[in-house]
Amino acid sequence: MSERTLVLIKPDGVRRALVGEVLSRIERKGLTLVALELRTATTEVAAAHYAEHEGKPFYDGLLEFITGGPLVAAVVEGPRAIAAFRQLAGGTDPVEKAATGSIRGDFGLETQFNLVHGSDSTASAEREIGLWFPSL
Ligand code: TYD
Ligand code: MG
Repeated sequence: MSERTLVLIKPDGVRRALVGEVLSRIERKGLTLVALELRTATTEVAAAHYAEHEGKPFYDGLLEFITGGPLVAAVVEGPRAIAAFRQLAGGTDPVEKAATGSIRGDFGLETQFNLVHGSDSTASAEREIGLWFPSL
C-alpha cells in the first residue's frame, strides 16, 4: 500500500543550499519523487496551506517567511510516506523536539526556520497536494 505526501523545502532550506541534502535523504529512505518544482509561493497558496494556523501568534511571520523566497515543492510516494517523511523531518522545534539524525535536528536552530514541511495526515496530504499540484 503506497501513499503520497506533500513535502516543502522551505525558503531557508533553499537559501542554505540544503535541497540536495533533503532530496538525498528522501531517496535514501526509499521514497519516490513523483513531482518536484522550484517556485515562490503566492500569499494565496501560503495562506491556504497554513489555514489551520490562522490567528496564531506566529502566523504572520510564517506567511512572510514562506513567501519570501523560492522553495521546493514535491510530492513524495511510498509505503507510509506521510509518517516516513515526518520521521525524516523531525519534530517542529529543531532543538527541543527534533532528534539528531533528522533534517531539522541536524540543520535547524529555530522553529520558524525549520527547513521542511511534510503533510501530517492522509487528509492533509490530499488537500496539500491538490493545492500545490492541482494537475496531479
Ligand atoms: P506546525 O504545523 O505546528 O508544525 P509542523 O511543520 O511540524 O507540522 O506549524 C507549522 C509551522 O509553523 C512550523 O513548521 C513552523 C511554524 N511555527 C512557528 O514558527 N512557531 C511555532 O510556535 C509553531 C508551533 C510553528
Ligand atoms: Mg503542520
